Amino acid sequence: TRRHILVTGGAGYIGSHMTLALLGAGERPLVIDNLSTGSRAIVPTDVPFFEGNVGDADFVGRIMDEHPIEAIIHFAASIVVPESVTQPLAYYGNNTANARTLLECAVNHGVPHVVFSSTAAVYGEPDRTPVEEDDPTRPINPYGRSKLMVEWMLADIAQAYPFSYAALRYFNVAGADPQGRAGQSTPNATHLIKIAVQAALGKRSGLDVYGTDYSTPDGSCIRDYVHVSDLAQAHLDALDYLRAGKPSITCNIGYANGYSVLDVINVVKRVSGVDFEVRIKGRRAGDPAALIAANQRARTALSWTPRYDDLEQIVRDALAWERRLG
Ligand code: UFG
Repeated sequence: TRRHILVTGGAGYIGSHMTLALLGAGERPLVIDNLSTGSRAIVPTDVPFFEGNVGDADFVGRIMDEHPIEAIIHFAASIVVPESVTQPLAYYGNNTANARTLLECAVNHGVPHVVFSSTAAVYGEPDRTPVEEDDPTRPINPYGRSKLMVEWMLADIAQAYPFSYAALRYFNVAGADPQGRAGQSTPNATHLIKIAVQAALGKRSGLDVYGTDYSTPDGSCIRDYVHVSDLAQAHLDALDYLRAGKPSITCNIGYANGYSVLDVINVVKRVSGVDFEVRIKGRRAGDPAALIAANQRARTALSWTPRYDDLEQIVRDALAWERRLG
């Protein structure tokens, strides 16, 4: 029997796109999600689904006893930077401690590969942009630290056991499936493009900009926005890479293009044709001024070839999904 790809967080924003990408590639995804932010409805009905926590060793162990797992793609995590500042223990519990349990189950069941959702937040305030994978990791918020610790666990496990991993450091994931099959449905989402398209559709009254006093050309923060479908493709590429027996790897996933918060707002206004209200506020806790990915490693080692490196397309797809949500 062919083995499954276990997708944790498969009922969430990125995980749901991953499940579609796996099905499209002829793989057999199996989803675990605790539905804390995800939605059961977005998981295709023919994909095995288990509701529960990746930090529950009995639950995960039982699934692995019954279903042979070839690789785990581990998305399930908390992802809001300012929330990690006020609730650090929740982040170390959900992101770090739960990953440890999941990895222990993986090792005990001889699961040979993990693709891990890491983050640009491991770099903190990089000394240079674009930032490269071997540049120093000095996270400036609990979110980044909670993820960096998992990278360390993975590196140590890969030394101790027959096991390999790909840690993908995502930059700012945005947009939605260009075919309209999935998108960001998270209630109370905090991410800039999601908030901006909601403002454009009148689902919220305007948008607050958290700081225009950063040392960037227009004073607002710069980020590298990557289309969620390109991100899912990077995981398929990482899976192929690990299956080929290549060594564990850490890769940035971004386009090496930076846009400021004010740039993004202008694109959303232009694409939507709506001039929503923008209020300049003070800085938000935990925000670095600029994060841009060097991506040569992903392009070369994983053969990752982005298809949607276009902020207008990202915004168009995000808008289309937001309209569909009604
Ligand atoms: N922002 C606003 N107003 C808003 C929302 C966001 O001005 O209403 C600003 C933020 O202050 C920040 C930028 O837009 O400067 C992007 O903020 P997001 O909340 O969209 O994303 P973050 O950069 O804080 O974090 C995201 C993911 C993390 C990931 C990080 C990597 O949430 O998981 O990108 O760059 F680590």
